[in-house]
Amino acid sequence: MTTASDRGRDPSGAPLLTVRGLSVSYRTGNGRATAVRGVDLDVAAGEIVALVGESGSGKTTTAHAIAGLLPSGGRIDEGRIDFAGQELTGLPEKRLRGLRGAAIGLVPQDPAVSLNPVQRVGTQVAEVLRIHRLASRREARERAHELLALAGLPDPASRPCAARTNCPAACASAS
Ligand SMILES: Nc1ncnc2c1ncn2[C@@H]1O[C@H](COP(=O)(O)OP(=O)(O)O)[C@@H](O)[C@H]1O
Ligand SMILES: [Mg+2]
Repeated sequence: MTTASDRGRDPSGAPLLTVRGLSVSYRTGNGRATAVRGVDLDVAAGEIVALVGESGSGKTTTAHAIAGLLPSGGRIDEGRIDFAGQELTGLPEKRLRGLRGAAIGLVPQDPAVSLNPVQRVGTQVAEVLRIHRLASRREARERAHELLALAGLPDPASRPCAARTNCPAACASAS
């Protein structure tokens, strides 16, 4: 029998993501406040795990801690996070940046305030592919068009790079 947890599991049996005893606190006006205490989590490759809890229970904090995106004032006090055989806790920012957007992704709850308002959305979508060298500049732009179209954005070709002259054909027709 195959279960959701078996699918894609590493032949060695190790989960892709392991969180053990994670505690996170934030600096507040009254000292540090613990937002997450003692979280344990195993996620196999291909497995979908939902964190469910009331507002303020620490779902976002847990995700941010895993992705290394805690805001200033937030810190992991205890615990260990392992991803694909390497310990993330304490990994230098440069190494984390290599994983983020390539091996670990995070879709923010409110993209309206998470995207840079002075950059075209397509540029920001294409940036991920370019930073991780998954596509050439041109391919990244084309893929950004496709993804925006898939997301149902009206007139996606006009969004990534209408101001540029070296756009792929879809773009050129809109500029
Ligand atoms: N940047 C922050 N500074 C101080 N406290 C925070 C910050 N972000 C979240 N918190 C607090 O941490 C707790 C968990 O918040 P959060 O992880 O956003 O919960 P959830 O995503 O489950 O709604 C809440 O009490 C929240 O007020
Ligand atoms: Mg949240």
